[in-house]
Amino acid sequence: MSLARLALIGSGAIANTLSMALEQGREPLRVGAVLVRAGSRSTLPGVKVCVRTADLIEWLPTLVAECAGHDAVREVVPDLLAAGIDVVIASVGALCDSRARDKLSRACAVGRSRLLYATGAVGGLDALRAARLGGLDSVTYIGRKPPRAWPRSVEIESLQQTASREAVVLFEGSAGEAARRYPQNANVAAAIALAGVGFDATRVRLVADPELRRNVHEIHACGAFGELEIRITNEPLAGNPKTSFLAALSLEELIRERLGRA
Ligand SMILES: NC(=O)c1ccc[n+]([C@@H]2O[C@H](COP(=O)([O-])OP(=O)(O)OC[C@H]3O[C@@H](n4cnc5c(N)ncnc54)[C@H](O)[C@@H]3O)[C@@H](O)[C@H]2O)c1
Repeated sequence: MSLARLALIGSGAIANTLSMALEQGREPLRVGAVLVRAGSRSTLPGVKVCVRTADLIEWLPTLVAECAGHDAVREVVPDLLAAGIDVVIASVGALCDSRARDKLSRACAVGRSRLLYATGAVGGLDALRAARLGGLDSVTYIGRKPPRAWPRSVEIESLQQTASREAVVLFEGSAGEAARRYPQNANVAAAIALAGVGFDATRVRLVADPELRRNVHEIHACGAFGELEIRITNEPLAGNPKTSFLAALSLEELIRERLGRA
């Protein structure tokens, strides 16, 4: 078992899957502490539970992984970075806000720390980053999930009440707007925006499709390099249908790589 002091923010579907996965395999890693909201409990067995960011900082983590939500990236992560603690985030959509990005950059400079983001439920972002160097003409992300994976809305309730099998487009617009309106569903759009043409220029379409059981992510890009088409069909996590299993695996991979336990 590694001596690295690994902590999580959040104790939901990703945190539970991640902590179990990290303890398995040839190079086991144990989550030692978790930061939860005041009044919440941790579902992770045998870890130190912190409710204040200061308590987590005092625990002296080597690395913290955020698996909580956009609020945590805005409100908790800057203090950790300023205290010199490296942080891996799942809620990449929080970076759509330029003020949040500036605050996080300043905190990294103060603490000489690093903020890393997981690629989450998609792949191929290395190719997109490389393609950007030659010039990208367009990048589009299409996210399709079953109705139960989307937040409640008039469209979703109508789909469920009429038992319609027709797919419904819930959103079309920029990655920045998608990340703001769908904080739990459009983190992938944010990761694609950061790798490619940014939050304003990345086009996003979000679809509720009653014919689907799994979450489907597609990236279409073209530019001087040629064309890129990526499609990933993801199993959802049992604890949260909005979240894909691959999102938890991508955090696991990044944490193992950072802590030399790959
Ligand atoms: N990058 C990706 O592809 C991707 C995919 C899925 C989810 N995510 C992000 O990961 C987050 C977690 O996903 P999940 O499926 O585990 O969600 P979840 O709802 O199952 O769990 C989130 C947990 O975090 C806790 N929490 C929320 N804000 C907090 C805060 N400020 N401090 C401490 N705890 C806090 C909640 O109480 C809950 O226990 C999502 O909100 C989303 O932003 C990213």
